[in-house]
Amino acid sequence: MAPAPRRGRMQTPHEKTVFVAGATGYIGGRLVPRLLDAGYAVRCLARSRLKLESRPWTARPGVTIVEGDAASDAALLAGMRGAAYAYYLVHSMMAAGRSYAERDLELAGRFARAAARAGVRRIVYLGGLGETGDGLSEHLASRRDVEAALRSTGVPVTVLRAAMIIGSGSASFEILRYLVERLPVMVTPRWVRTEAQPIAIRNVLHYLVAALDVPETAGKTLDIGGPDVLPYDAILRVMAEELGLRRRVVIPVPVLTPRLSSLWIHLVTPVSHRMARPLAEGLRNRVVCRDNEALRLMPQELLSVQGSIRAALGRTGSGGVETSWTDAGPLPGDPAWAGGASFEDRRSVVLRADPERVYRSVCRIGGGNGWYAADSLWRIRGFLDRLVGGPGLR
Ligand SMILES: NC(=O)c1ccc[n+]([C@@H]2O[C@H](COP(=O)([O-])OP(=O)(O)OC[C@H]3O[C@@H](n4cnc5c(N)ncnc54)[C@H](OP(=O)(O)O)[C@@H]3O)[C@@H](O)[C@H]2O)c1
Repeated sequence: MAPAPRRGRMQTPHEKTVFVAGATGYIGGRLVPRLLDAGYAVRCLARSRLKLESRPWTARPGVTIVEGDAASDAALLAGMRGAAYAYYLVHSMMAAGRSYAERDLELAGRFARAAARAGVRRIVYLGGLGETGDGLSEHLASRRDVEAALRSTGVPVTVLRAAMIIGSGSASFEILRYLVERLPVMVTPRWVRTEAQPIAIRNVLHYLVAALDVPETAGKTLDIGGPDVLPYDAILRVMAEELGLRRRVVIPVPVLTPRLSSLWIHLVTPVSHRMARPLAEGLRNRVVCRDNEALRLMPQELLSVQGSIRAALGRTGSGGVETSWTDAGPLPGDPAWAGGASFEDRRSVVLRADPERVYRSVCRIGGGNGWYAADSLWRIRGFLDRLVGGPGLR
């Protein structure tokens, strides 16, 4: 548990100390090592110390784990006191399901109040890009509400707004990859023609770190995107090219609702309908940067859509995926309805091989390599599991 906060005392913030909420997530898990590389001491909020400790960078000097929930003022204050900057990378979609928007709003307000009490100089938040005004999807509207809640106590906030992030393991990238790999012909919602400005994960991480060094970013909302603006069907085409597959036939139809699309995504890809639904709903909003201010303030070389897909596929192929959309949420294990017990089946055999070779062989089981026998039966079992809403053979 986090140490109890010292009431009434505001420590002078240390310029090189930052607090990261959401360190076990997709973005947070990649940001922390880059902050360490940039010379920052990083305090990471984690609901489960054990989960965070599975990241190799937690052993690096400069990392402090603050165990606690973002709903706990004590944990937030313990992490923020003495930190000059606080990143808000919390997202409740995996943890809270349909009520994520309400939960995110509450947590963001709490975070802003704790930041003000602790004397944090700046909050940095990664939100969602998209048209402003009416007609926003529930997910994008929720991102806007979080921005407002973070600003509510007067601590300067830097908001970076991103559309689809292309990186190995990101939910939207994995949805695209699986759809393209598995479906030569795709019936899609008509929003597949909506324009988007995706950005490579490495460019997002650069902006997130650089924002601390550029005081002009304080109090600003900056749209961040890559160099290309293109509709989703064009992104699907680039993905097929990069995977070395024939051009996919995309047939947009007006009747495919976000609910149906998300159930379809659930069936065809490893991404659950719960996660896919807000993403599918968001497809109707054009997500294109309004200006280039972020690039002017924090110059860097932006990767094209093709370049970012190539880089992400390279990572996926080499098994070098740093973080994945599956990282957030409860640790995998037996579901509550199984009574928390696990079935154990022990067998032993003596092998004439060194432990390292044996371990490597064990690690090869499953995934693309298949099982010892009856692979097709396992695939049928996985398909049936997905039909009833389960994870299938992820
Ligand atoms: N990933 C993208 O493609 C993308 C694109 C555009 C914008 N963004 C924005 O980037 C931000 C981060 O997204 P992400 O993809 O990294 O999210 P994510 O992978 O779902 O991670 C969410 C993080 O929030 C933590 N969290 C949730 N509820 C918490 C609570 N009550 N207390 C403490 N921690 C809690 C999770 O911890 P547990 O591990 O304990 O669950 C996890 O570390 C979001 O605002 C998102 O809108 C992401």
